[in-house]
Amino acid sequence: MSTRLGKTSRRPLVIANWKMNGSYHTNAELLAQFAPQWQGVHCAEVAICAPYIYLPQVVEVLSRSNIVVGAQDVSQFKLGAYTGEISGAMLVDVGCHYVIVGHSERRAYFAESNRIIAEKFMQAQAVGLVPIFCVGESLERREAGEALATIGAQLQAVIDMVGLGAFKQAVIAYEPVWAVGTGRIATPEQVEEMHGFIRAQLGSIGAGIRILYGGSVKPDNAAQTFALDDVDGALVGGAALQANTFYGICQAADL
Ligand code: PGA
Repeated sequence: MSTRLGKTSRRPLVIANWKMNGSYHTNAELLAQFAPQWQGVHCAEVAICAPYIYLPQVVEVLSRSNIVVGAQDVSQFKLGAYTGEISGAMLVDVGCHYVIVGHSERRAYFAESNRIIAEKFMQAQAVGLVPIFCVGESLERREAGEALATIGAQLQAVIDMVGLGAFKQAVIAYEPVWAVGTGRIATPEQVEEMHGFIRAQLGSIGAGIRILYGGSVKPDNAAQTFALDDVDGALVGGAALQANTFYGICQAADL
């Protein structure tokens, strides 16, 4: 378990994951409301992960703000004959800083294995993107008492491919599958246990790595989660689709 000192050395980070939502029009509206709210100097860092096709729009609108931009996925291949794929270099080219890797929806609906996700992590870092590496267990695994083992295996697959040191240039998001989009947030005890476990798995570099929580974070439950020693911010889905709710969560992290 890390100390308070460790926590204060890690800058809080709140990331919006828009998923497959939005249009030119609604994105412009949302950013026009949110970006002015988030002007000035803040302790917390804010990032927005938009659908691929809208990344240039979001980069352009946010270019005069201190909000950074990320993608929601990246190809596990570098370049070439992979129809429909988007490479890490392309994401850098349009102005991305972050990329989500291994989101539970990619794992569940697009059959992304631990190995594919580790390859994506590697491709992202090879071009200087910072992976937001998602881990999380299903309800079934949790009820079977296998939550820690599941997250341990997800982490180990990446460590095996890129080495532990690579996590110094990454962010980890713990997102229990049963809490994503369900309105059922993990309890402080569950979050604390898992974040402490993840940090311990990272050994001596663990104290410097940001570990976010994700899964039904809302303005009214964010503060209690952010108060936990090993929580360094949030990955936010549904509540990031409205400026006021996203702003409320960002403010809770901006201590
Ligand atoms: P949610 O999604 O906030 O809607 O639960 C979180 C996520 O999928 O990153």
